[in-house]
Amino acid sequence: NGHNGNSRGALIVLEGLDRSGKTSQSSRLLPYLEGLGLSVELWRFPDRNTYVGEMISSYLANKSQLDDRTIHLLFSANRWEKRSLMETKLRSGTTLIVDRYSYSGVAFSSAKGLDIEWCKVKTCLSCYKHEISFVQAPEMGLLAPDLVVYLDIPPEKAAERGGYGGERYEQLEFQRKVAEHYKILHDTTWKGHCVDAPLEHATGRPDTVDGLIPSHPACYTIKVFPPFF
Ligand code: TYD
Repeated sequence: NGHNGNSRGALIVLEGLDRSGKTSQSSRLLPYLEGLGLSVELWRFPDRNTYVGEMISSYLANKSQLDDRTIHLLFSANRWEKRSLMETKLRSGTTLIVDRYSYSGVAFSSAKGLDIEWCKVKTCLSCYKHEISFVQAPEMGLLAPDLVVYLDIPPEKAAERGGYGGERYEQLEFQRKVAEHYKILHDTTWKGHCVDAPLEHATGRPDTVDGLIPSHPACYTIKVFPPFF
């Protein structure tokens, strides 16, 4: 899709634990899609270049303390402040590869224990409307991705890769919890593809499917999930 000038770009999201290979995979996907003649940009969240992004960055570096709900909403606000530019780009035909999005927002904050009931869609008995959980609600109205790829790596393997930069969430125990919460999202509400994160990428394994996924058959499983917004 997207080959003629009138069509919009695609919103492609990569998700996964820290050190799961999102950055490497996005930098492979970019030239692949450009090679198909598409106009493509790499984005990432948090976008640390905005004022909100600076607050997030300082929190992640343990230079400031914030209440869990406050930082949760800042991550969401950081997506909101980029929303209109995102829409403009997509409408003008640019495909966006986005490193982390709302799914990180939900998986990381719920892993901290925020609103542990979030995964259950609750129905109000008097009006039969679904209640959206606290962690999902701030995401309502953001642009829904066309594709979400989750790079599925065991937390222990990600930790072995090294390069945890000492930021607040980069600890094995916490990443285990995040993985559990991604799994709940993935099994319940998520529209996406689940891909075992290629452990070989660091050594430059070249074979990929559609510019992204290593073609080793045992290496990936693909599932499709409904969106939660
Ligand atoms: P990121 O900038 O991708 O990490 P890195 O600097 O290592 O590339 O993300 C920083 C951290 O923020 C990461 O541990 C995931 C977390 N995060 C959230 O908790 N909520 C969110 O909404 C997002 C986008 C990221």
